[in-house]
Amino acid sequence: MGNLFNRKVLLGVSGGIAAYKSAELVRQLQDAGAQVRVIMTRGAQEFITPLTLQALSGNPVHSALLDEEAEMGMGHIELARWADLLVIAPATADLLSRLAAGRADDLLTTVALATPAPLLIAPAMNQQMWRADATAQNLATLSARPGVTLCGPAEGVQACGDVGLGRMEEPATIARAAAELFESGALAGVRVVITAGPTREALDPVRYISNHSSGKMGFALARAAADAGAAVTLVSGPVNLDTPAGVNRVDVVSAQNMLDACLELRDSCDLFIACAAVADYRPAEVQADKIKKGAEHSSLALVRNPDIVATIAAGEPRPFVVGFAAETQDVLAYARDKLARKNLDLIIANDVSSAETGFNSDDNEVALLWPGGEQLLARAAKSVLAHQLIAYIAEHLPATKRN
Ligand code: C5P
Repeated sequence: MGNLFNRKVLLGVSGGIAAYKSAELVRQLQDAGAQVRVIMTRGAQEFITPLTLQALSGNPVHSALLDEEAEMGMGHIELARWADLLVIAPATADLLSRLAAGRADDLLTTVALATPAPLLIAPAMNQQMWRADATAQNLATLSARPGVTLCGPAEGVQACGDVGLGRMEEPATIARAAAELFESGALAGVRVVITAGPTREALDPVRYISNHSSGKMGFALARAAADAGAAVTLVSGPVNLDTPAGVNRVDVVSAQNMLDACLELRDSCDLFIACAAVADYRPAEVQADKIKKGAEHSSLALVRNPDIVATIAAGEPRPFVVGFAAETQDVLAYARDKLARKNLDLIIANDVSSAETGFNSDDNEVALLWPGGEQLLARAAKSVLAHQLIAYIAEHLPATKRN
């Protein structure tokens, strides 16, 4: 598995109906940690507006070859030099033909000629056009060139109603193929277990105690660890998130379920990251039937749940153990106390009192603490931060935990 973290990806979009999927592809590339700039052909702009891709990529969209203003800013040669990778998705039959012929009649084909970066092509066209001899010859020419990789097309129902080969690959598959073009990352071969999301502690068959954890941070870490080449198992409480590509997922409900799943994985775990918001207490008894309304006041007896990360850190074999400290005050002091008390190797502290960086938000701002020091990280999207955290964790991971 490869790694797109901090890679500069130039996305070329040509004029096919699949151009609407480019918006999602921009997101997927960014979620993998890449910086993205977009070039659109004239045809592409008939299918999706530059404004959409500009807003998503956070950079102006490039389209004109001979535009004075653009050339004064980031002209075609600068763009070609900027890119670590050129992805063309969708690549229409016309674009494949122009690339194969080595034409330079618009910005995208010119940059494709001028860049030393590798080229990943995701073709998309009608199945008959895909099977045409001319297309096959163009593809053979392109595939024979060093640095050119094809992704797709996929098979299925097409926009025109035909069924067959020619659909653009899904954005997640293209982003994965892009990542695989780069060296596998800092956690190559490391077996990682990550807990994520909330736990639910049953009161009766219909009610439970839980919290607002969305699981976003844990899932972003799982994705980043997989991008860095790790073999990742995500032990997740109930959340509404898709499993990141290439990640194993074990679904659990209660803290006890989560502990059992983690203990089962302990023998094959080099790095344990506890990101779950585990309920500290559970009802002392789970009622077999729904509890009925009765007296004006009622109270609930609770018992302590096991501490999952502390159990893993105290047991054998002991992986490298990373915990989280979500606090609303004295964040660093509480985190340092937790680091020592739970015998962790590293703790990631964050302030959850702010709505902008708290449980359900997309952003986070954290500090890393370990027995010998600490490091503050600037506020960033959870997906970006996850890649930074994985890079830091990898730096701290001892050689004995690498296979
Ligand atoms: O004690 P506190 O809940 O603040 O500690 C947070 C850290 O401990 C997190 O890494 C969390 O995943 C982990 N934890 C755990 N099991 C518990 C409680 C917390 O693994 N029962």
